[in-house]
Amino acid sequence: MKSLMSFALSLLMAPAAFADLTIYTDRPTDRVRPVAEIFTAKTGQKVTIVEEAYPALLKRIEAEGANSPADLIFTKDLVFLSELARLGHFQAFQSSTIAHSVDSSMRDPQNLWTAVSKRARTIMYNPNRVQASELSTYEDLADVKWAGRLCLRTGKGSYNEALVASLIVNNGAAKAKEIVAGWVENLAVDPFPNDTKMLEAVANGICDVAIANTYYLAGIIAQNPKFPVKAYFANQNDTGAHINGSGIGVAATSKQAALASQFIEILLQDDVQLSLTGAHYEYPAKINLLPSTLIREWGGFKADSANWSVIGDEAEAARNLIREVEYK
Ligand SMILES: [Fe+2]
Repeated sequence: MKSLMSFALSLLMAPAAFADLTIYTDRPTDRVRPVAEIFTAKTGQKVTIVEEAYPALLKRIEAEGANSPADLIFTKDLVFLSELARLGHFQAFQSSTIAHSVDSSMRDPQNLWTAVSKRARTIMYNPNRVQASELSTYEDLADVKWAGRLCLRTGKGSYNEALVASLIVNNGAAKAKEIVAGWVENLAVDPFPNDTKMLEAVANGICDVAIANTYYLAGIIAQNPKFPVKAYFANQNDTGAHINGSGIGVAATSKQAALASQFIEILLQDDVQLSLTGAHYEYPAKINLLPSTLIREWGGFKADSANWSVIGDEAEAARNLIREVEYK
């Protein structure tokens, strides 16, 4: 009787052998849930999704420390992925499937995270005011020929930090500073709070060129095919267009790393890649998988091959540079 009781007690005390898989994310829950359903159908494991903006998510992870229930961290930007890696919040995944699915430039060199989706942050122009043949590189937008013709989103925020960090990687800090200072000099109006408002300004002739994420333009064109703004992939004759994207890694605290890796493998299945990225006009991260939405018509492009972790390492320097040139 006593042994039966202690057996029952041990069952109660034992950590749940089949705990749910918990995902921390700054992605919309509705976008993650269909993937969770596929995972549950395949493994029998439930998935708990905890959605918060990145700063709150990071705060939560730091506060929970070793007791964090997180198994996976899924976030929207290379700046966040590299910060989480640097702070020790990921453990390496062991999966050749993941390694074979995503180009090494979009995976952490130590397998701490992998990209799930990507987009270009590239030149956008009003074809009624600019010929594509006049466009070339990010660097060229600092030229005096664009004086009073450039619109930018605010320099605060991960998208432009990552872009400026990539300029530091490809040009060195001094040259990158000259370029960004040149942009600020060329602004038509004060920086915009978001890409959508900035693209509307290009359409309305407030400025002729801008730098935006491809999915914002695609989202507008899906609603209004006559919207007079086009994407131009920058730096096609040298470094390639700057890309950024969402990515995921196994949380350092996870005791279910194999299961968590399985979730990542599902995220990288062709069908899941297409539905996940198609919903908001991003490009699949998976090698050789073309998007199925209207961005497919924009054609392929040369992407910057610098590793996202190398770019992420320059995010702090980029923040300082942005402040120094008074890019607000
Ligand atoms: Fe965005």
